[in-house]
Formats: sequence, C-alpha cells, structure tokens
Amino acid sequence: MDIQKVAVIGGGTMGNGICHVFAMNGIAVHLVETKQELADKALSTIENNLGRMVDKEKIDVGQKEETLSNIQPFLNISKAVKEVDLVVEAVPENFELKKKVFAEVDKAAPKKAILASNTSSISITKLAATTYRPEQFIGMHFFNPVPVMKLVEVVKGLETSDEAIRVITETAEALGKNPVEVADYPGFVSNRVLMPMINEAIYCVYEGVAEPEDVDSVMKLGMAHPMGPLRLADFIGLDVCLDILNVLHDGFKDPKYRPCPLLVKMVDAGKLGDKSGEGFYEYD
Ligand code: CAA
Repeated sequence: MDIQKVAVIGGGTMGNGICHVFAMNGIAVHLVETKQELADKALSTIENNLGRMVDKEKIDVGQKEETLSNIQPFLNISKAVKEVDLVVEAVPENFELKKKVFAEVDKAAPKKAILASNTSSISITKLAATTYRPEQFIGMHFFNPVPVMKLVEVVKGLETSDEAIRVITETAEALGKNPVEVADYPGFVSNRVLMPMINEAIYCVYEGVAEPEDVDSVMKLGMAHPMGPLRLADFIGLDVCLDILNVLHDGFKDPKYRPCPLLVKMVDAGKLGDKSGEGFYEYD
C-alpha cells in the first residue's frame, strides 16, 4: 500500500510539523483544525518554517510553493478523511479527546486506511481498542521540531498487523526519517529514557544541587546534548513532561518515575515553559 493522501488531525506544534514533512515529500495532506483561525495559524507556521529552509538554501522557492500547495485545510474530520490512505492524529494528550476523534475518523475513513496516533504517552493498544480496526491502528511518534528530528518511533499495539508496521516504516523512510519499531509499553522507549533524565535534572534544582543554567551546562558541555534537560523540558512543555511522568508512574507502579514536586508545583502555577512564557527560563 502506497500512502498518497494523508489527513493530519490537529495543527499544533506537532501537527503542523507533520503536515510540513508529508507535504514536502509530495504527499497530499488534509490539515484538520477546529477553527479557521487555528488552521490559518498552522499554515502560517508551516510557511515560516519553509521560509527558514529557503533562507538556509535547503529548498528553493519553487519547492516551498509546491509544499504549500500540497496542504488543504479542513474544519471537518469526516470530510477530511473520506479518501485518505492514512490518518495521523496529533490532538492534545487527552484519552477522551483522542477517543472522540478516532470514533469520527473510524466511521468516515476508507476501510483500508491506517489510523496512526502521534501520542507520546497514551497506550496505542487502548486507543486501538476504541476503533473497529485495531489491526490497522499504530503509533507514529514524531519529535519536535518535526522537520529537523530524524526519528519516528513506530509503536506496535497488541493487535497492530505486520502489514501496518511495514507501511508506516516505509512511509517514515519516504519522509527521510529513521523509523524505530518499539512495543507498546508506557513511554515507549523515547520517553521512558528521556523523562527520568528530565525529572532527575528537576530534582537537582529542587534539592539545591545546582541552578537550572548549571544543570543544563553540565549536560550540554559534558554530554554534548544540543539542549540541556531543563531547557528541553521547557521546549516540550512542563505539563506534557508531568503527564508523561504520571503515565510512567501509573503504568509501572515504580517510585523511580515519581514526578519531582517542583515540576508539579510549576505546572500548578501555570509555568509551562516556552508556551506560557516561563518555565525554568523566561521567554518573550
Ligand atoms: N522547521 C524547520 N527547520 C527548523 C525548525 C523548524 N521548526 N526548527 C529548527 N530548524 C532548523 C534550523 O533552520 C537549523 O537549520 P541548519 O542546521 O540548516 O542551520 C537547525 O534546525 C538548527 O536550528 P537553530 O540553528 O535555530 O537552533 P539550534 O542549533 O539551537 O537547534 C534544535 C535547535 C534543532 C531544536 C536543537 O536544539 C535540538 O535538536 N534540540 C533537541 C530537540 C529534542 O530533543 N527534541 C525532542 C523533544 S521530545 C519530543 O518531541 C517528543 C515527546 O514525546 C515529548
């Protein structure tokens, strides 16, 4: 099965990046948002990111225009998924919301279409079980910034077929990404390894071991990480980090995943990182 037309549900940070990479690789994309302003915002973000690639001479103006012409915005899920080969869901990390979205998708998408979730923490098996096609349901987990990061974590739910794995693996390769297949356990591999590191960095601040800048300098200069763990936590969103840690903690029942009280307090205070203007650092 060749993926030629895709619907991406959600045009936020991850959704617009996912649209960007599909469209840049010649695949027709239906971008679904709930309001016209949000669809316009997603399209203008994609246009700006493509502009940045033109400035860096990674693509030319013609490729930018062609990429944009491959994206069609929709405000209605049923209409958007009618004739697609693949649906990638990238709505906020809320099980009930995703379940509602997939109920609509499942009803309207062609029988052969594969349904994928970009979730970073919700069980693929549990989401798949809410649809009538669990064997065609899979995790396709991209990383922020999507146009830059090479990884796609391909998450195999309990009933995901080998054929769905093959199609999504080949599709990720066609996007210039490196797919890695993992089984469906809390946090998959990416967040099971990343989040305890971020949590431990927050404990270092909480216990007064070092200031955020110094924790980040240690990991940037000593471990060659492009961003320190606290800068990265702000970039990901402190609420998202807390949600994922809670999924690990609840899923494994292991106290090693206990979210640091400082993280909980910052989220309670609305200090969510880049998106709220303040987290471990301040942003304009
Ligand atoms: N679209 C297109 N290109 C982009 C971009 C975007 N949104 N954002 C950055 N870029 C490009 C820049 O144009 C630049 O290109 P060149 O190399 O050709 O110059 C390159 O990326 C680097 O960007 P900058 O020079 O602006 O900044 P930088 O060197 O500080 O890199 C970064 C920024 C790529 C974000 C880098 O700091 C990095 O890799 N950080 C770690 C990111 C990371 O770990 N992401 C995973 C988060 S976890 C997740 O997403 C999933 C989850 O489940 C929580």
